[in-house]
Amino acid sequence: MSPYIIPLCLILFIIKASHSMGAQINETTIPQGSEINTAGPQSWVSPSGRFAFGFYPEGEGFSIGVWLVTDPSRFILWTAFRNDPPVSGGSILLTAGGSLQWIPPNQGFQGKVISAAPTSATSAAILDTGNFVLYDAKNQVIWSTFGTPTDTLLPGQNLPPGNQLFSSVSNTNHATGKYRLSNQPDGNLVMYPIGAIDPDSAYWNTGTYAQNFLLTLTLDPNGTLWLFDRNSPYRMVLFLTNQSLSASPDSESYYHLTLDADGILRLYSHVFFKQGGAPKTKVEWLVPPSNDRCSVKGVCGPNSFCQVTSSGETSCSCLPGFEFLSANQSTQGCWRAQTGGCTGNSPNGDIGLVATMVTVKNTSWSDRSYNVPPQSPTIEECKAICMSDCACEIAMFDSYCSKQMLPIRYGKRVPGSNTTLFVKVYSYEPKRTASATSIAMLTSGAALGMLSLVLLSVSVMLCKRRPFLRALESDHTLSMI
Ligand SMILES: *[C@@H]1O[C@H](CO)[C@@H](O)[C@H](O)[C@H]1NC(C)=O
Ligand SMILES: *[C@@H]1O[C@H](CO)[C@@H](O)[C@H](O)[C@H]1NC(C)=O
Ligand SMILES: *[C@@H]1O[C@H](CO)[C@@H](O)[C@H](O)[C@H]1NC(C)=O
Ligand SMILES: *[C@@H]1O[C@H](CO)[C@@H](O)[C@H](O)[C@H]1NC(C)=O
Ligand SMILES: *[C@@H]1O[C@H](CO)[C@@H](O)[C@H](O)[C@H]1NC(C)=O
Ligand SMILES: *[C@@H]1O[C@H](CO)[C@@H](O)[C@H](O)[C@H]1NC(C)=O
Repeated sequence: MSPYIIPLCLILFIIKASHSMGAQINETTIPQGSEINTAGPQSWVSPSGRFAFGFYPEGEGFSIGVWLVTDPSRFILWTAFRNDPPVSGGSILLTAGGSLQWIPPNQGFQGKVISAAPTSATSAAILDTGNFVLYDAKNQVIWSTFGTPTDTLLPGQNLPPGNQLFSSVSNTNHATGKYRLSNQPDGNLVMYPIGAIDPDSAYWNTGTYAQNFLLTLTLDPNGTLWLFDRNSPYRMVLFLTNQSLSASPDSESYYHLTLDADGILRLYSHVFFKQGGAPKTKVEWLVPPSNDRCSVKGVCGPNSFCQVTSSGETSCSCLPGFEFLSANQSTQGCWRAQTGGCTGNSPNGDIGLVATMVTVKNTSWSDRSYNVPPQSPTIEECKAICMSDCACEIAMFDSYCSKQMLPIRYGKRVPGSNTTLFVKVYSYEPKRTASATSIAMLTSGAALGMLSLVLLSVSVMLCKRRPFLRALESDHTLSMI
């Protein structure tokens, strides 16, 4: 650095350090050779002062991104290299060669290119829309943060067909998290847990598929969220923000759509008041609708179900006979505490592996049935059918009976649900002194077996006699069927 630049930086630093958010520079045009540094100034600020690009603190270090300045906090809207660990320091430089790079603090280490611009940039800018752009010599935008969204869409930024938003891990870790919003090439806008593509894993969609439209998702500066087709007049408004508040001359409203870490898509408004004071942040719209956070699939892992606690948080519970895969992470799912073969008899003379069917009510699950027994069994028969089938781990009884495979997924608590689950639970029991419950289970199983035998023989008899009965009183026979 030349001796003339140091005092200039110092002056700027001192002026800007008086702001509560630390050191900033506001500039409209960022020429080649411009630099910001974790030691300050840490960011370039848009002319309005509302948006900034630069270093923001994350974890033990810094991440690079764009945020909305909501003193004393900030809303992160975009993150560079989001899956790399935060950096301990360094600078961001628009090099003389026209590339935007992070330069590590250690001398001699290579810089990391932030923008994948096809040609060399002559200048950069952080615009009042929140878009950070690179320009070529003809002042054409050659790269923008709007073109590479992470978890957020800002007004003026489009999510074209085939593009996605990916949630962050948490509010303090902006690496790729568990959910995605996919603008599918079939015209449907769908939310999934990451990694899942089957329609069964989708937890929200616009239902705009199969209309031969390629839709683009867009947000207006007035908070209108809509889908449009580039090649036709088709429009579909997803949400209209009430204009009565934002129309006030004493305030300014900023909107953004974010796929949050909890898998919920929220449209936020931030109202800044001309007379100063803290901005007001509000969720204008959110999907899945309602505050049922458990309808987001994948909140809880396999073989566990989600419920909303009294404080509004989600919690996961294992099915009976299962325990958490990882004792300190209840969202990872559950596995069997004790697996059973098909026995009931173990080679060990004194100890027997006993299977019981444990009833779980008030839940709903994704249906992964491998078999649906014919003849619509009753709820008790459904339980017995699974009990007597080695391969059956869980029986689900709703309007019909089905045998389920493990893992069973996307469970959630639904009070008053019509679904009853019978989970096969294995335990080692000393022989002859089996617990009262398993004796009860075994006897009820035996009783059921007897009952079905009786039923079978009665029906065989009835079938044999049917022509005779029909001939005599056809009305009665019909009602018996
Ligand atoms: C520069 O940013 C500050 C906020 O950091 C803002 O108050 C000021 O108005 C901005 N300057 C201009 C010229 O817009
Ligand atoms: C919001 O702005 C768009 C254009 O930017 C306009 O078409 C639309 O009517 C506005 N909506 C409301 C509710 O004012
Ligand atoms: C918009 O907000 C105003 C003021 O809060 C309220 O009176 C009005 O009913 C709202 N309009 C709609 C359509 O919700
Ligand atoms: C959970 O425990 C394991 C070891 O038992 C540990 O390695 C891991 O870091 C822990 N995870 C969390 C989130 O505490
Ligand atoms: C299931 O939910 C219903 C309705 O909320 C409640 O009355 C019933 O006690 C619940 N049953 C169990 C086993 O939790
Ligand atoms: C259970 O079934 C009844 C009758 O079909 C229905 O009215 C009710 O809404 C169902 N309950 C749930 C939670 O789906």
